[in-house]
Amino acid sequence: MRRSLVAGNWKMHGTRQSVETLLGGLNQQDWPEEVDLVIAPPALYIQQCREALEGSPVSLAGQSSATQAEPGALTGEVSPAQLRDAGCEYVLVGHSERRSLFGETDEMVCKKFAAALACGLRPILCVGETREQRDAGETAEVVGRQLQVVLESFGVGGLAQGVVAYEPVWAIGTGLTASPEEAQDVHSMIRGRLAMLDDEQARCVQIVYGGSVKADNAEALFAMPDIDGGLVGGASLNADEFGAIARAAGRA
Ligand code: PGA
Repeated sequence: MRRSLVAGNWKMHGTRQSVETLLGGLNQQDWPEEVDLVIAPPALYIQQCREALEGSPVSLAGQSSATQAEPGALTGEVSPAQLRDAGCEYVLVGHSERRSLFGETDEMVCKKFAAALACGLRPILCVGETREQRDAGETAEVVGRQLQVVLESFGVGGLAQGVVAYEPVWAIGTGLTASPEEAQDVHSMIRGRLAMLDDEQARCVQIVYGGSVKADNAEALFAMPDIDGGLVGGASLNADEFGAIARAAGRA
């Protein structure tokens, strides 16, 4: 019923040369048919990726986009309409680095989600708790709050038009992965919360896990019933590793 999704978030990595090499590696992968595949390159390289991936099943995502779809005086921003025009199908919304380093609030995240949907992009809504919040037993509350703003405006049906990425902040870029059981607990909490509002739609929402996903831990994570794939940072910069993670999702 739900397809798996594996997305690679390249963050602020790459040069034209290294991107060309990475794309060459991606084009040699044996991609599983049953998995939605996405990469989120830096905006500057979207065009280069689009050309190189012509005919490949890999879709493109923006890493962030403006709170509005309309053009405007927003120096340095990229609008979701521009991402769509450049060939993107997805956009990350509310990644923890955007929240913690660039001051994105839940309200801004909600506006970005709205603007992305309005442009026909599928927003990948990132949620997750910090180490301190987890230690204080606040994971459900924090993740619930991050989801709530979007749910209030769009309901479960709106979320189902995008993707939810559960990314515990303490597991991002640290090499510390949530255990499959720890991740599954939060994924099932998220789905349970959505199911209370709309059981049928809740079963359709893709909920992927992010935080130090690697080829050697992907299979165990993706085998969990409510983990529908992964949002992969560091490991997505290696084409063979990203390909192996995608194939692990195909076996799940
Ligand atoms: P990581 O990043 O895989 O390097 O931990 C994940 C993310 O930030 O999306």
